Amino acid sequence: MRIERFLTGITTSGTPHLGNYVGSVRPSVRHSLRTGVESFYFLADYHALIKVDEPARIQRSTLEIAASWLACGLDPDRVVFYRQSDVPEIPELTWFLSCVLGKGVLNRAHAYKAAVDKNTAAGNDPDADVNVGLFMYPVLMGADILMFNAHQVPVGRDQVQHIEMARDMAHSFNHRYGEHFVAPEAAIEDHVATLPGLDGRKMSKSYDNTIPLFTPREHLKKLIGSIVTDSSAPGEPKTVEGSALFQIYQAFATASESEALRQAYANGISWADAKHLVFERIDQEIAPMRAAYQALIDNPAKIEAILQAGAAKARAIATPFMGQLRHAVGLRSLQTQADSTAKVVKVALPVFKQYRESDGQFYFKLQGADGRLLLQSGAFVSPKVAGQSIAALQADGIKALHGSPVPLQPGPDVTESDIAAALQALKTSKEAKPV
Ligand code: TRP
Repeated sequence: MRIERFLTGITTSGTPHLGNYVGSVRPSVRHSLRTGVESFYFLADYHALIKVDEPARIQRSTLEIAASWLACGLDPDRVVFYRQSDVPEIPELTWFLSCVLGKGVLNRAHAYKAAVDKNTAAGNDPDADVNVGLFMYPVLMGADILMFNAHQVPVGRDQVQHIEMARDMAHSFNHRYGEHFVAPEAAIEDHVATLPGLDGRKMSKSYDNTIPLFTPREHLKKLIGSIVTDSSAPGEPKTVEGSALFQIYQAFATASESEALRQAYANGISWADAKHLVFERIDQEIAPMRAAYQALIDNPAKIEAILQAGAAKARAIATPFMGQLRHAVGLRSLQTQADSTAKVVKVALPVFKQYRESDGQFYFKLQGADGRLLLQSGAFVSPKVAGQSIAALQADGIKALHGSPVPLQPGPDVTESDIAAALQALKTSKEAKPV
């Protein structure tokens, strides 16, 4: 079985809140405990520089986020847990990738486009207050992912475009310099709840409606007490639809506990009692971790040592890989034999092989760049029909797999996305024109 590599980054720009916990920390920690996965979690502090220019806040946020992940059960011996800025290969790779990615792709990135649209609407220069870091954000994120050849990146829908861009960078680089990168996939987390905040909108720093994850018990109580509710009086039946309080409860409670609260709403529980119940339920989950969090916050040296050990693990992968990439692009020692004849690197590509079997029928297979069997066709009556089937795969990619008149069988341990990636690589190599 192939070990799936998961990777995710957390921008160090603020204090973790319950929304981060429910949407990211808790599912990621659970996921990291599964077998057959290798996880990379990192503190995206280079990303934080794009929007935070208070050094003390970056440092504090890094401490708080690291302590939160550890307190929530992330085991640094099981995963690779590191700080982005401890891996200098990442900004170096960012540069490499920025040289294979079309600028137009970045013009279309959501975050940048939103900034431009806002400026345009206000009658300002389109790029007013946009730093180059914001523009380059997707490239840095691509480098984060490709540096460790992650297969899966758990993200919300708003981040899917960034993963598409990382795939684009992987293909462009591979096409020019050989197969170095795995094309990552977005593992879209639709099942994890987005938590509403105090005012009922999505819990987010930018709305200033958050509940800090490890705020002291008394403060947690006060904040939960301030969640918006309607004006129905004690004894009046209440509905759970649109109730932020109920949604927050659901993210912590079991199904039967949620059902009980739904009943209590219908029976007219007072908002004060409902809030008390929600507070106690959340605190029950958070309290044991709160103590661990506090102990970690009080011991920054310990966290620093954990992050340094994580950086060593990360660099054990990144340093040799970056060496390979530097060589691939031609940043080489002058002592190594200059390969002046091979101006264009011969790129290993997947191939289609057509053949006839002793049964007189015609077959084809798709072989990966590494020789692995990716796809095996069934029997065709004529080479022409087999050729048409190949042409359809070349033109339409993976879609043609299911439309084929003759069964096409993936090779052992081959997933549809492996086949899709190979077909895409072939297509890219055909379409690419020399620069
Ligand atoms: N963009 C992510 C955020 O908004 C953080 C991040 C940086 C990231 N690099 C990443 C996430 C790589 C996943 C993979 O918080």
